[in-house]
Amino acid sequence: MKCPPTQSASATHVTHDGDTYLSFGGCNYMGLAHHPAVISAAQNALETFGLSTSASRQTTGNALPHEQLESDLARFTRFESALLLPDGYTANLAALQGLASQGIRHAVLDARAHSSLFDAAKLAQMTIHTYNHLDAHHAERIHNALNQPCVVLTDAVFTTTGMIAPINTLLNTITDQMYLLIDDCHGFTVLGKQGQGTAHHLDLQHPSLIMTTTLLKGLGCAGGVVLGKAELISATRNESTAFICTTPASPALASAACTALKILESDQERREQLHSNINTLRRELNSIGITTHSDPTPIFAFTIGDADTMRHIEHQLLDQKIILPLMEYPGGPAPLYFRLSLTASHTTEHIHQLTSALASAQKALPA
Ligand SMILES: Cc1ncc(COP(=O)(O)O)c(C=O)c1O
Repeated sequence: MKCPPTQSASATHVTHDGDTYLSFGGCNYMGLAHHPAVISAAQNALETFGLSTSASRQTTGNALPHEQLESDLARFTRFESALLLPDGYTANLAALQGLASQGIRHAVLDARAHSSLFDAAKLAQMTIHTYNHLDAHHAERIHNALNQPCVVLTDAVFTTTGMIAPINTLLNTITDQMYLLIDDCHGFTVLGKQGQGTAHHLDLQHPSLIMTTTLLKGLGCAGGVVLGKAELISATRNESTAFICTTPASPALASAACTALKILESDQERREQLHSNINTLRRELNSIGITTHSDPTPIFAFTIGDADTMRHIEHQLLDQKIILPLMEYPGGPAPLYFRLSLTASHTTEHIHQLTSALASAQKALPA
């Protein structure tokens, strides 16, 4: 589906061409992009800093909110150090350039890892090896055979399916001269006691573990971050052109991100609401014959019949002012598939609206 440009949006609804739709698209999992305190933090910082520092942080573009956010993110996620980048894609580029500067020449990737991880490994001039999706033992066989320093790369929660990677097993199999990088764009804010991410959810701390994430999705702000041990983060800061040659996220949005983190830490109800929504939606999808994963994540992907059937269902839902995104985004379970996501701001009523519309659309299909 190619949506017309959005005219206005709340955490649950969007307006296109004058019509307002209940939306199950996007990745604003915690509803923080529309939180009044987050918006007002951005507005206040705009007054102080303007819209952009208009230069790389290595020159004149470094502002207090950037440094504050790095230190808040490192403390929150329990990593030694953090480096802020303009977005999640660039964070992956920077992380791999940092690893390359430490002599890592091989990247072992899940076959369905996010495209930015493949691009990052290419930019860092690493040799790419892929392992079967979610198969940690295949990854182990590859790096054992390589017997050279390498980095294993995976989405922590897969963008297109919501499934959690076998991070425990991957971490257990890596040796001293290896790293495991998890891209936690879809686990950060959702998983962990306060939303610290997938590593926290699995209770993992390891000197060779690196985490990257966007701050544009669950945190609802802007920026990306690389988290890891201080030595590696310092090398990334000094060696990565993805960091050195880019202008950071607006200080206003970095300041908003600091406020969003405080909300994550203090507002337990918001996370409980998201997880209750996940359970409700899973139950209701299963009850209408749609099978789902059982991971505690707000992303569900599925197909119904062939491409024409899915386009027909998509339009039936649009007629009822519901957006259920039908997409071809790379790394999905099929060439064309529905990928829906929940936010903490959705209500049980919203979920019923979606599943009832979906059930009716399925019933109306020709036998
Ligand atoms: C797994 C993953 N990594 C990286 C990115 C890139 O993040 P950003 O949009 O902040 O550049 C995305 C999303 O777009 C993503 O889903």
